[in-house]
Amino acid sequence: MWGGRFAGAPAAIMAEINSSIAVDKRFWREDIAASRAHVAMLGTQGIISAADAEAIRSGLDRIEAEYAAQGVTEDPALEDIHMHVEHRLTELIGPAAGRLHTARSRNDQVATDFRLWVRRAVDEIGNALADLQRVLVIRAEEHAASVMPGFTHLQSAQPVTLGHHLMAYYEMLRRDGRRFADARARMNESPLGAAALAGTGFPIDRHAAAAALGFDRPAANSLDAVSDRDFALDFLMAATQCSLHLSRLAEEIVIWASQPFGFVALPDDYSTGSSIMPQKRNPDAAELVRGHSGRISGAMLSLLVTLKGLPLAYSKDLQDDKPPVFEAYDLLILSLRAMTGMIEAARFDTGRMRAAAEAGFATATDLADWLVREAGVPFREAHHITGRAVKLAESSGVQLAELPLDGLRQIDARIDERVYDVLSVDASVASRTPATAALRPPTCWRRSRPPGTRSVFPAKRGSARPRPISAACA
Ligand code: ARG
Repeated sequence: MWGGRFAGAPAAIMAEINSSIAVDKRFWREDIAASRAHVAMLGTQGIISAADAEAIRSGLDRIEAEYAAQGVTEDPALEDIHMHVEHRLTELIGPAAGRLHTARSRNDQVATDFRLWVRRAVDEIGNALADLQRVLVIRAEEHAASVMPGFTHLQSAQPVTLGHHLMAYYEMLRRDGRRFADARARMNESPLGAAALAGTGFPIDRHAAAAALGFDRPAANSLDAVSDRDFALDFLMAATQCSLHLSRLAEEIVIWASQPFGFVALPDDYSTGSSIMPQKRNPDAAELVRGHSGRISGAMLSLLVTLKGLPLAYSKDLQDDKPPVFEAYDLLILSLRAMTGMIEAARFDTGRMRAAAEAGFATATDLADWLVREAGVPFREAHHITGRAVKLAESSGVQLAELPLDGLRQIDARIDERVYDVLSVDASVASRTPATAALRPPTCWRRSRPPGTRSVFPAKRGSARPRPISAACA
């Protein structure tokens, strides 16, 4: 491809370090789509003849069919996917293939291909996120009245409901969805026409090529267009934050599935056994989701460090942009699907959750609030009185609601029998404002759903079965 100036072939080790086909063959579809848009534009603009444009187009169609049927066969003599496609095109249509690269460089080509791939990956992640959100809503509605302890410092704090708790993760994922949607909107500019770095003297139509590929507009600055990888970083940062949320939920599942907690049991199809301890039922999928978040944030850091010292415009370091993005995508989509399956299949032990909520003096705040509300006691004093009531309950081995009225009145005479109305966990949960205790309709996600992704609702139990990974992103 660039042999004219060179007398010898590259050393084997040079070819090896330079080669990216093993990685970038993953976006052969995007490479062919971008070439098709480019060649159509060249034909329309009269930069190449209509006959050549047509020959190239039909050659690209054939290559697409071949790759779809057999995959890309790697040729060690050809550096990357761009050279593979062009080489095959030459075999198919002869010298006219050489006109495809008019007014183009691999620099704007790879930037375009990769953007297209990441854009599609964002859409796939959006779908998987929506599936998980839907399952969370379904389970939250089912458990809108299932009382459990709410924790701070992992100490029982105040009773909440499982529905309330699960919907907290819904909110995190809603923000993730918006981050991906923002990233998608920002990345949707076409680098094509930037050529190597300086643009081209051919009378190209950048708007036509951009529109054909679904981009909103051509990128404004050619130097930026070929060297910018913000779109990949945006993706990785959104992926990192999303995986962090999944990791926190995974950690909750691990804790809840432990024997001392026993809040949740994962059925057989989401558990693994131990080769030595027959009683074990391990939440491996949750642990792996937690683990994968480490790898995803590592991928983000890897690209960040690759980019940070690069002068304008293209440097070959940029070839290292793809492995972290591919890895993060694979791990995140897998994590989302595994989490969706786990949440859908989880069997919550509402009896144990309720018992735990009742065990931790979790309605102490309700007693203090009652003293403030019904007896006009300043909150600090009410806090102190309640502390003494907790101490009494603890030393008598009973719950707050089981303390006799006499005992409570000895601590403070302003307490009367109405206090028992607030000492149960159900009364406590019911007393909190609807804005925190109730489920909020998930309209925001629907509004922010990236274009082209499916609607999240109406929800149907069992409809969130993992879809096969789309061929384009696989
Ligand atoms: N395989 C290259 C990459 O992924 C394509 C661009 C090559 N450009 C160049 N100037 N050598 O970055």
